Amino acid sequence: MSNESAKVYQPSPDFVKNAAVSGMEGYKALCAEAEQDYEGYWGKRAKELLSWQTPFTKILDESNAPTYGWFVDGKLNASYNCLDRQVERGLGDKVALIFEADDGQVTKVTYKELLARVSKIANALKELGVQKGDRVIIYMPMTIDGIASMQACARIGATHSIVFGGFSAQSLRDRISDAGAKVLITSDGQFRGGKSLPLKAIADEAFAMGGCEACTSVLVFKRTGVDVAMTAGRDVWADDIVNKQSDQCDPVWVEAEHPLFLLYTSGSTGKPKGVQHSTGGYLLHAMLTMLYTFDLKKEDIFWCTADIGWVTGHTYITYGPLACGGTEVVFEGIPTFPNAGRFWDMIQKHKVSIFYTAPTAIRSLVKAADTDPSVHPKKYDLSSLRLLGSVGEPINPTAWEWYYENVGGGRCPIVDTFWQTETGGHMITPMPGATPLVPGSCTLPFPGIQAAVVDETGNEVPWGQGGILVVKKPWPSMIRAVWGDADRFKKSYFPEDLGGKLYLAGDGAIRDANNGYFTITGRIDDVLNVSGHRMGTMEIESALVAHPMVAEAAVVGRPDDLTGEAIVAFVVLKGSRPTGDDAKKVIKELSDFVGKEIGPIAKPKDIRFGDNLPKTRSGKIMRRLLRSLAKGEEVTQDTSTLENPQILEQLKG
Ligand code: PRX
Repeated sequence: MSNESAKVYQPSPDFVKNAAVSGMEGYKALCAEAEQDYEGYWGKRAKELLSWQTPFTKILDESNAPTYGWFVDGKLNASYNCLDRQVERGLGDKVALIFEADDGQVTKVTYKELLARVSKIANALKELGVQKGDRVIIYMPMTIDGIASMQACARIGATHSIVFGGFSAQSLRDRISDAGAKVLITSDGQFRGGKSLPLKAIADEAFAMGGCEACTSVLVFKRTGVDVAMTAGRDVWADDIVNKQSDQCDPVWVEAEHPLFLLYTSGSTGKPKGVQHSTGGYLLHAMLTMLYTFDLKKEDIFWCTADIGWVTGHTYITYGPLACGGTEVVFEGIPTFPNAGRFWDMIQKHKVSIFYTAPTAIRSLVKAADTDPSVHPKKYDLSSLRLLGSVGEPINPTAWEWYYENVGGGRCPIVDTFWQTETGGHMITPMPGATPLVPGSCTLPFPGIQAAVVDETGNEVPWGQGGILVVKKPWPSMIRAVWGDADRFKKSYFPEDLGGKLYLAGDGAIRDANNGYFTITGRIDDVLNVSGHRMGTMEIESALVAHPMVAEAAVVGRPDDLTGEAIVAFVVLKGSRPTGDDAKKVIKELSDFVGKEIGPIAKPKDIRFGDNLPKTRSGKIMRRLLRSLAKGEEVTQDTSTLENPQILEQLKG
């Protein structure tokens, strides 16, 4: 495969001139620097960019590979690096956060103010008994206090684990329990799209399920003002315990490897895994990618539209922009409220210069602009923009071009950033003032990252040939552990089939035959990507079979114009196969049930019933047939090993 015929978009001379990574010579020089002295490359930047309380003397520790350590004997604090040092550098009155609430109300928070708020929350956490190394679950909306709570944990060396506000009580319970969290931070409710939705009530349900006994306190912020039940001795209002605290709180210095956070994400088997990140290496890459990929300058207004519930919100809302002393927009709401012009209106209003969003959002806004010209980006003054970004899923060339022309006015480079929860920050991405862009390709590795495409045995395949995406060398912001499951860490990310030394991303990729550009071809495991949200097919199957009516279920993905992938579930009920209105009723019941078990984002788009699932004679479900059926394709594969070929007809949908 080659992109030879694809249109190439060159960065403008102006952009190149002022960019941190200037021109392909600049990019190649950085790659060569890392090639010649890999540890030195990262070590130099860790010294320059981070403020260390105890400087490190060792850069990479491979003694416990594949658990790698970076800057191991150094000590620092992430919150100090994000807040105190900006104040010390004279940026105390600079706006850190421009918060726009769901209803449009804007609050600006300076570095000095944010530091004071974070310190108060940190002191409150200390009063609740939280100490260095304790886990704190945060189940909060996209608010200033959501971000401040994360920073407060970092300040006292507590390891935070955010649970996305759209997850169910069951998911929340599982994470509180798996992490052994001491405190839960939540709010009474959250605003989304003009609606007031509960959070604390869901947390109460999670506790009622049992297994959260180690979690002795719940800190509750007030957001929506909805009535909530408060359990005496456990629940405490932030207004009561936070506001009275001192606004000074000394940062707790931690080792570079100290776990800054856990973030649960889906894998191909079993329940979500707690991806553990370090403090030093993680923060370094958060900063370096802000500077190289986003070319952040001191006058930029940066806006990443992600939620703090996902890794993008960690690296490019809570840590990266603040560690660089930037000004960022934080948005509580959704792109379609009060109308589908919300993003464009906010870019215009806040003079956003760097905008980072997901292909799903772009696709839905293309559709909206097509049907309602008044919300077309061309109706807004978007001249403040100078750089656009995309993340979370492949961006199809049509959406890329629309984004480029209509949002970027044909003048802003688009950085299509490939990375994962496990990688902590960008892995393969254009450098905006260097890399010629090809829509649909995430182009070339971030300087220093050693990405490659290999076959099943770990040997590199020639350019132009598809294969498995791997990273050949450890990098500072890589996953350190799967919380409480060392075996799963090794098996998932450093499998023996590939020699045990290559990091397995779980994606397929192909490099362009001419220029070596990477194109991600999608997951090679049973992980789905729906609207940029990662979900395991097994997780959804487990949720379905937990319903008393369900005997068996198999879940696959099918391509979807809007959401990238859509969830299709094939279900065998314990009773007879329902049809007509009966089927509709059961579909609703099962869909709601999955919503309750995992969260609304996991609800299947399509549920089909069969008397059985297509299986081989040895009883293995033939998923490739289900994938064809889900897409509505004729089954052309070999079905000779199929025990029950007649079942295919029933499952056609
Ligand atoms: O399949 C890839 C896809 O999203 C997966 C990682 O999901 P998650 O850990 O939730 O992190 C999402 C935000 C970083 C990857 O394995 N993915 C992410 N970015 C891209 C992408 N696929 C194609 N192009 C991208 N730019």
